[in-house]
Amino acid sequence: MKYLITSALPYANGPIHFGHIAGVYLPADIFTRHKKLKGIRAIHISGSDEHGVAIMQNAQKAKKSYQEYVNEWSKTHRELFEKYDIKFDYFGQTSKEYHKEETLSWFKDLLGKGLIEKKAEQQLQCQDCHNYLPDRFVEGECYVCKYPEARGDECPNCGTWIDPLKLRRPVCKFCGSRNVKAVDSFQWYLMLSKFHEKFQAWFETRKPLWRKNVVPFVESLTKDNLVDRAITRDLDWGIDVPLPEAKGKKIYVWFDAPIGYVSNTKQFLKETGSAEDYVKDWWGAKDVTIVNFIGKDNIIFHSIIFPVMCLGTGFVNPVSDLPANQYVNLEGKQFSKSKGWYVDAEEAIAQFGSDALRFYLTSLIPETADSSFTWKSFELKINSELANNIGNFINRAMKFSAKNWPEGMAAEKFDKFFAGHEAGIRGFIREYHELLDSYQIKKGQEHLMALGSKVNLFITERAPWTEFKTDPEKAAETIAVSTVYVLVLGTFFAPYLPQLSKSILSYFGLSAESEVVKKIYQGDLEALQEFFKPSFKLQVDPQGLVPKIDPKVIEELDAKLKEKAAR
Ligand code: 2FM
Ligand code: ZN
Repeated sequence: MKYLITSALPYANGPIHFGHIAGVYLPADIFTRHKKLKGIRAIHISGSDEHGVAIMQNAQKAKKSYQEYVNEWSKTHRELFEKYDIKFDYFGQTSKEYHKEETLSWFKDLLGKGLIEKKAEQQLQCQDCHNYLPDRFVEGECYVCKYPEARGDECPNCGTWIDPLKLRRPVCKFCGSRNVKAVDSFQWYLMLSKFHEKFQAWFETRKPLWRKNVVPFVESLTKDNLVDRAITRDLDWGIDVPLPEAKGKKIYVWFDAPIGYVSNTKQFLKETGSAEDYVKDWWGAKDVTIVNFIGKDNIIFHSIIFPVMCLGTGFVNPVSDLPANQYVNLEGKQFSKSKGWYVDAEEAIAQFGSDALRFYLTSLIPETADSSFTWKSFELKINSELANNIGNFINRAMKFSAKNWPEGMAAEKFDKFFAGHEAGIRGFIREYHELLDSYQIKKGQEHLMALGSKVNLFITERAPWTEFKTDPEKAAETIAVSTVYVLVLGTFFAPYLPQLSKSILSYFGLSAESEVVKKIYQGDLEALQEFFKPSFKLQVDPQGLVPKIDPKVIEELDAKLKEKAAR
């Protein structure tokens, strides 16, 4: 089985915040690293989502061309992901020619099959500035939850896919006028209604596998019917509708964005000189599990619309697994750059580095419920768990080993581990794999930390520094057992904290790419035992691996956040 893992294409339209990182990109990265370490072929595909009205509005505000604007954000996002050690096999851009080609072939295919049709419709138009008002060019009160700032495409409060004609008290976002009227127009529609039965049959096969936050939501939206949706717009940025009578019309961003997963896979194979075919070997292949990591606001598109498009074309498989996460808030309230309720992910990574932030953000992955970032809990999580537990254990074990056995330790010293601890490690690995394989990424880290606590307690209770004075043999055994655990921790931290894992593995002259590390990761404990034969000597002088966070720094950051929000 191969894994085709995608992360929701981020809009090239502003900074990425912790909610995006913990909700989508970090779990996808950890999951991909996990599969690769298991020796499974896996690729992680994403890219910038570069069309749509929100981007147009902000590019206009920034007085930049649309292309220039999205290129800049795409680059900024790419750089940020690198700093967080979030790796993609390919990160593309939907404004590129290759993506346009792929999108057009889908459009034409679905049109030919009668799944896209031209329909007369009414559209909102501002009677003062005369602009058509698709999507976010209009706002008004949501007719479902009464939220006053619902947009023409979606209500940010209740997630309803809005019919703009039903918005209450619509207002034009170009000029602020309330003189907005519905006028006659025409657009091309994705004929979801024609696909209701086929969709339901497919969805039945997904229900047992998908998360509890996804299944009832999708069911409630699809049980009676599927509603056709316009997939073209009157705009001047986007992919041209490939029909003569559609002059000036563009393909709707939510039609082309998910095709980005496919076009970016194709481009990845092309740019890496692969002999594989993007359809035959990936998107249309039976032995490929397609996993879309997304936030809850993207559920409709990934569980209904895009699957219908995939099933409709018939040449790509729809999503297999949909690990959709809830939201990460900031002290209980949604992140908002404009309201100053915001933590800059760039500044944070420059200050604390990838290990600390990945560790804390993983603990916040909102797998079952919304979670909340606070500076104080960040400090506690790093200082009392990562530093006190993992950092302290590794530091004590390795320093004591370097000091007292500078020439290394003979293989038989490690026998104790394999006699007494092997079954426990087998159990640990089994459960760790089960958690990650079932997308319980946050629990996987908790499970690893539980092992860390156990071994930290082991070395504390055995106190080899005291043992050494009375029973040096026993102390050697304690350190040997601890050393094996250090290697195990270094191995299993590889998907979560690649930097920490790299430092730990360097003590053994290894890296996450080493065959023996992969074997250990896959549960081959003979390879682990072999590694310590005929003897083992530390390859690098041990040093403190997890710096503690100064509480004063946290107090300052907390005060700064509250001050910004109060402004
Ligand atoms: O919500 C978002 O940020 C969208 N840009 C996600 C697109 S996901 C996919 F369909 F490309
Ligand atoms: Zn107007």
